[in-house]
Amino acid sequence: MEIEFDTVARWTTDAVAELGPDHAIPAACRGSASPAGLDRLCRDLRPGMRLGDVGGGTGGPAAYAREQAGVVPVVVDPMPGACRAAARMFGMDAVVGGGERVPLATGSLDACWCLGVLCTLDDNDKARLVRELRRVLAPGGPLGLLVFTADEPRPAGAPDGNRFPTLGRVRELLTDHGFVVDDEVAPDDLPPAPPSWRERADRVDDLLARRHGDDPRFAEAEEQSGRLGALMSDGVVRGHLLRAR
Ligand SMILES: C[S@@+](CC[C@H](N)C(=O)[O-])C[C@H]1O[C@@H](n2cnc3c(N)ncnc32)[C@H](O)[C@@H]1O
Repeated sequence: MEIEFDTVARWTTDAVAELGPDHAIPAACRGSASPAGLDRLCRDLRPGMRLGDVGGGTGGPAAYAREQAGVVPVVVDPMPGACRAAARMFGMDAVVGGGERVPLATGSLDACWCLGVLCTLDDNDKARLVRELRRVLAPGGPLGLLVFTADEPRPAGAPDGNRFPTLGRVRELLTDHGFVVDDEVAPDDLPPAPPSWRERADRVDDLLARRHGDDPRFAEAEEQSGRLGALMSDGVVRGHLLRAR
């Protein structure tokens, strides 16, 4: 995971610096919701709200929320390279830390997102993460979650470091920690990213391949994300976008 979320984050920042700042958000939404999914989560946001994005990676979703909804975001991610990328690409507050112990004060966020992160934690840490999301969020504040689920934690071909929860377990974790889910949709049922978004993401990917295609770390990161893609297209791993309070 370090290569995928740390080394590639650094390479992505350099690619965006070369291609232009309009490439930053599509390039930095790594495997997260599409613009349509992020728009859905943005329905709960208002200008000036403090949004925390836990496991926020290189900051693409948080930057999108700032642009579309006028929130004041902070990214929390355990990968220093991802936090540096968020700070450099978006001038965003980014704090190195894990979801098991979020380095933010209790009740300090008006809203919180956690996109594509739960499946990267082991089972005990999943519960700790949800408890932490509850702790840092002001009472009644909205939570946006993107979760990838499967019928078993490690289906054949699962990417390293992933343990997929069932959807039932996700719902149970949320209920146990006082969240009420009020919206749930499969990202696949939402409109795809517009062509201009995909073209910008592809240009960044092409540049990364040209610059780093011979680097074994590039091949490793591609292999890991390809594994997730294959499981998703086979329907073994499924995405769910949830809004809760
Ligand atoms: C699939 S990426 C998603 C990144 C970002 N949320 C997005 O949607 O673009 C998963 C992220 O989870 C982060 N992560 C891994 N372990 C974590 C942990 N224990 N706590 C919080 N985040 C973690 C990774 O560093 C990575 O940035």
